[in-house]
Amino acid sequence: MHTTVGIIGGGPAGLLLARLLHNAGIDTVTLESRDRAHVENRQRAGILEQGTVDVLRSAGVGDRMDREGLVHDGIELRFDGRSHRVDFPSLTGGRTVMVYAQTEVVKDLIALRSEDAGPLLFGARALAVEDADTDRPLIRYLHEGREQTLSCDYVVGCDGFHGVARQAIPTSIRTTYERTYPYSWLGILAEAAPVYDELIYAHSPRGFALASMRTPTVSRLYLQVDNGTDPADWPDERIWDELDARLALSGDAGVQLTRGAVSGKAVLPMRSSVTEPMRYGRVFLAGDAAHIVPPTGAKGLNLAVSDVTVLARALVQAHGSDSAELLDAYSDTCLRRVWRAEQFSYEMTTTLHHDPAHSPFETRLQLSRLDRLAVSGHAAAELAENYTGLPIDY
Ligand code: APR
Ligand code: PHB
Repeated sequence: MHTTVGIIGGGPAGLLLARLLHNAGIDTVTLESRDRAHVENRQRAGILEQGTVDVLRSAGVGDRMDREGLVHDGIELRFDGRSHRVDFPSLTGGRTVMVYAQTEVVKDLIALRSEDAGPLLFGARALAVEDADTDRPLIRYLHEGREQTLSCDYVVGCDGFHGVARQAIPTSIRTTYERTYPYSWLGILAEAAPVYDELIYAHSPRGFALASMRTPTVSRLYLQVDNGTDPADWPDERIWDELDARLALSGDAGVQLTRGAVSGKAVLPMRSSVTEPMRYGRVFLAGDAAHIVPPTGAKGLNLAVSDVTVLARALVQAHGSDSAELLDAYSDTCLRRVWRAEQFSYEMTTTLHHDPAHSPFETRLQLSRLDRLAVSGHAAAELAENYTGLPIDY
């Protein structure tokens, strides 16, 4: 089988890239190792930057997002007995974010895909990418019990942190920068009204807590826990009690922790990772295949969207002309924005979490940083600009 663009991975990066290329008349084949039900039900992030919302709308996949998504104008920070709201529109010239789960974006992309675009093969596991530095790169993959090959003009690895595409870049030119954090997140979904009508990020001596949501009746809540925590050690009541203690809502007007049936209980490790370059020959990396951010800054999905938006433009240029100018600039263009998001995610994470190695000195530095965000419009604007998302070709 031959295709113009072979895509490994049917997560948000792979699915959106296929949609953008289909809209430009470029044929693709997407290989996804898991089945559709697994891909559509993986609990992941829930915040769409303004740029992501715009890309989804222009790609023709934003209708349900616009009907069901929740537009948010800010977030609340809680620390040292105080609370401070960071208002996005006044600090960014009108930008906001959309609360709309990644699982819903994936469902919308798959539903649209089944109507009119190139093959999306579930249960198709890429084994290797070969001939990356030729004009006919090859994907070897396993599907329906048989090893098969897909010859391509271009290959894009959208296969996440554990994918194979990264191996196509020779170790002699591939560098991975990484950091593992000394804590994880315990995340739950709850059939319970959200704590507040905006997200609450809470710094507390007991550890970080985040109150988010999925719908007006479903909450998404996170607690900082030790690495290696077993979710079974956190029965529902213990989770609710700890959220209560860390969010310290104590009767604030309009803010209440409603308890409800808990599902999707999982422990998420926290790491930062960037692989450079994001291209070798005719093989490109996009999304988690190239970079990982700790979830505190809600950047993972949005970086995947910005990567494939930049790459789609470059592939359209190369496909329609002799110019490879944008393809040649792809890696550097994306990495500039990736490193900015890595720094923002690192700063949000290290400012808000209790690090067991911290002395009281470092904790005072955290509180000083949070106080600065509360009193300085400049500091708050820097947070708001990064949170709502820098321009895609930043
Ligand atoms: N062959 C085929 N598919 C593969 C292979 C393989 N060898 N390895 C991994 N995959 C698939 C995974 O099953 C997954 O569906 O690639 C997909 C990668 O999707 P994601 O991990 O979601 O990565 P990405 O599309 O870049 O989206 C990034 O997803 O994980 C979150 O926090 C992350 O929000 C961010 C977003
Ligand atoms: C979520 O709703 O899942 C979410 C929101 C904000 C974050 C991380 C996760 O920073």
